[in-house]
Amino acid sequence: MPYFEPELQLTEEEFRLIRDLIYNHCGLFFDDDSKYLLDRRLSQRVFHHNLSGFREYYQFLKYDRRKEEEVADIMDLLTTNETYFFREAFQLRAFTDEIVPELLKLKQRERTLRIWSAGCSTGEEPYTIAMLLLEMGLHGWRIEIVGSDISHRVVQQARKGVYTKSSFRATEEHYLKRFFVETDEGYRICDEVRELVTISQMNLFDANRLALLGKMDVIFCRNVIIYFDQSSKKRVIESFYNTLRGGGYLLLGHSESLMNISTAFALKHLKNDMVYQKTDTISGGVAS
Ligand SMILES: C[S@@+](CC[C@H](N)C(=O)[O-])C[C@H]1O[C@@H](n2cnc3c(N)ncnc32)[C@H](O)[C@@H]1O
Repeated sequence: MPYFEPELQLTEEEFRLIRDLIYNHCGLFFDDDSKYLLDRRLSQRVFHHNLSGFREYYQFLKYDRRKEEEVADIMDLLTTNETYFFREAFQLRAFTDEIVPELLKLKQRERTLRIWSAGCSTGEEPYTIAMLLLEMGLHGWRIEIVGSDISHRVVQQARKGVYTKSSFRATEEHYLKRFFVETDEGYRICDEVRELVTISQMNLFDANRLALLGKMDVIFCRNVIIYFDQSSKKRVIESFYNTLRGGGYLLLGHSESLMNISTAFALKHLKNDMVYQKTDTISGGVAS
C-alpha cells in the first residue's frame, strides 16, 4: 500500500498568524479562500521538522534560530514562478525600438546601461533582455543586467541557466541557434549572454538590500505585484521610484498598472506599448 502523509488542518487562528507572518515578510497575501493552499503546502514543513502541529510551527517560524532559513524555504513553496523567454513581445519591442535608443542618446557620455529584472524567477526574463541588447550590437557600452528573486530554488536555476521546452514557447529558432548550447539536460545559455547578467536572491521588501543596487535605467517587474495587496504594491513601487534614475522606465506585466497605487510616474504612450517613466518634472507620490 502506498504511504500518504496525513494532512494537517490549520485552525482559523493559526491560519491568520502564519498568513500575517508571510505577508509581513514578503508582501504575498493569502486570503481566506487560500487557506487550503497553506494547509497543503506547509503540512510538509511541519512533518519535516517533526513538530506537533501548526501552532508549534508558528513558534518555530517566529523564534527558532533557523527561522530565516525556514522562511526562505517556504518562499520556494509559496511563490508562483511561471515564466518563459521573450514573454510579452510587444513590450520587448517597445524596449528595443524606443526605450533603448532614447537611453543611448541620453547616456552618450556615460555609455552604461543598468537594467533590473525584479522577480525574475528562473532567469528567462533577464537573459531575454541580454539577448536583445546583444542583437542590437551596442559596442563600447557597458551593460549590467541584474535579475533577482526571493526564492532560492529559482535563483539557483537561473544561475545554472539550463532550460527545456516550456521555456521556449515564444522563442524564435535563430535565438536558440545563436545564444544556446545543446546539452543532455537541455539548452544552456551561452557565456556571451551570461556575462551581462548577475542573478541575486533578494526580497523586494528588504530595503537594505535594495539600497545596495544603485540606480537603474530600466526596471522590469512583470507579473510579480499581482500577488501583492494594495499596500504592498505601494511599498514596492515606491522603492522602484527611488531606484530609478530620472527619465528611467518601469515596465510592468500586461495585466498590471499603477492605477490607485502611484501618481509619481508618467504614463507614456509609445508606438508599441504604454510604459511608466520617472520624469523629474512630474510631481506626485504614492496614491493615498
Ligand atoms: C510569475 S513570476 C514572474 C517572472 C517574470 N518576471 C515574468 O514575468 O515572466 C513571479 C516571481 O516573483 C517572485 N516574487 C514574489 N514575491 C517576491 C518578493 N517579495 N521579492 C522578490 N521576488 C518575489 C516569485 O518568487 C516569482 O518567481
